[in-house]
Amino acid sequence: MVKRVAIIGAGVSGLTSIKGCLEEGLEPSCFERSDDIGGLWKFTVSVETTGHGMTKVYKSVVTNITKEMSCYSDFPFPENFPNYMKHTLVMEYLHSYAKHFDLLKYIHLKTTVCSVTKRQDFTTTGQWDVVTDMEGKRDTAVFDAVMICTGHYLNPHLPLESFPGESTITEIPRLL
Ligand SMILES: Cc1cc2nc3c(=O)[nH]c(=O)nc-3n(C[C@H](O)[C@H](O)[C@H](O)COP(=O)(O)OP(=O)(O)OC[C@H]3O[C@@H](n4cnc5c(N)ncnc54)[C@H](O)[C@@H]3O)c2cc1C
Ligand SMILES: *[C@@H]1O[C@H](CO)[C@@H](O)[C@H](O)[C@H]1NC(C)=O
Repeated sequence: MVKRVAIIGAGVSGLTSIKGCLEEGLEPSCFERSDDIGGLWKFTVSVETTGHGMTKVYKSVVTNITKEMSCYSDFPFPENFPNYMKHTLVMEYLHSYAKHFDLLKYIHLKTTVCSVTKRQDFTTTGQWDVVTDMEGKRDTAVFDAVMICTGHYLNPHLPLESFPGESTITEIPRLL
């Protein structure tokens, strides 16, 4: 029986995890709660309404690592891209990576993973129940493994207590 792997998130890590599973003869299903791939590189004007409250690049982000150092090892950035690039070019690169390795057909967009739990027979099968929600439609599926690619910047960290007087500010300027 071919092993089924659930991959949570279709950002930089989720995309390459799909590819890795395929190379190992595993059957990946990737769940992404937003409507596109790219994770935090997908710029959204309003984080509250479209960013699911997660950290996203702001408008002026330019990469801070050279393109030779930050590309996937088997998929260099195009020759004509600058060494340090705007976030829109990173998105373009991720889309071409997904297209080149034919990864899109394994991705379920607008699908949130709600829970991952060990099955009753976990000690013998090692299997997981994965509950998803696709625009109100709940589904449960059984997987042999789960890869959590939800990003280490998933929840914005706002150390507001470090800024005395912050609570007296009525409007917080946004970095857009
Ligand atoms: C401002 C900023 C600038 C950065 N600049 C650079 C840089 O120049 N170079 C560099 O190499 N790195 C940079 N990084 C680091 C960045 O974290 C990585 O480049 C990369 O985006 C991490 O990818 P990821 O797939 O791990 O996570 P993410 O991109 O965060 O993707 C996680 C995905 O999981 C999805 N998800 C989360 N929970 C669920 C759920 N329950 N169900 C379904 N889907 C879910 C999210 O919607 C998202 O699409 C930067 C980070 C920030 C914040
Ligand atoms: C690049 O920026 C990210 C996000 O701000 C940060 O986590 C990382 O340490 C930075 N890397 C370098 C080499 O400065």
